[in-house]
Amino acid sequence: THPASLIIAVDGPAASGKGTIARALAHRYGLPHLDTGKLYRATGLSVRLSGGAPEDADFAAAAARGLDPALLDDPDLMSSENAQAASIVSAHPGVRAALLAVQRAFAAQPGGAVLDGRDIGTVIAPHAPAKLFVTATPLCRAQRRHAELARSGDPRNLATVLADIEARDARDSGRSTAPLVRAGDAALLDTTELGIDAAVQRAIALVESAIAAG
Ligand code: DC
Repeated sequence: THPASLIIAVDGPAASGKGTIARALAHRYGLPHLDTGKLYRATGLSVRLSGGAPEDADFAAAAARGLDPALLDDPDLMSSENAQAASIVSAHPGVRAALLAVQRAFAAQPGGAVLDGRDIGTVIAPHAPAKLFVTATPLCRAQRRHAELARSGDPRNLATVLADIEARDARDSGRSTAPLVRAGDAALLDTTELGIDAAVQRAIALVESAIAAG
């Protein structure tokens, strides 16, 4: 049993398992789920497709304001190149401002919602009753992402994947607007030593205690 409206905020770095956990929580509680990283990825992709530079703040903000939803289904959305572009555009305050309303509206649906990203518990839904901060060591996250890429035929080696993840961690945590940081009231879930099922069980237990604590 859970409250009539339940917002669950799931934040964490790349390949921490937050997406898998957020999807499982949405299923468990019958809530809609938004992977907010896709909005930044679509913005990065839009900039790249129109020949702009992700570093160009005005260009990226205009792309975020005029985002074509079809980009959310583009095969390049989840590529490593696009992940770096997403991370770069996401540091621009104008991009974050342009994507704020759609995320807030998603969170405000009757019944609630699960959102995962970097700033859900701190900026998008600071009053969410249940917040998780999902982490794992950089090497563990790189190994997971490397296995995933290998399955999809991407030949990138482990050292390259680790360097990409560390670059993204540094940029996402070091930016001045809405950096990746654990909200003071977010429960920490380190998935380094956990398989998917164990991580999901732990996440449900943490959400249950957050609900019980009211
Ligand atoms: O979760 P992801 O790896 O798909 O996110 C891609 C990039 O988007 C990430 O490196 C930082 C940015 N991002 C963000 O700044 N804020 C969010 N709420 C979600 C993602």
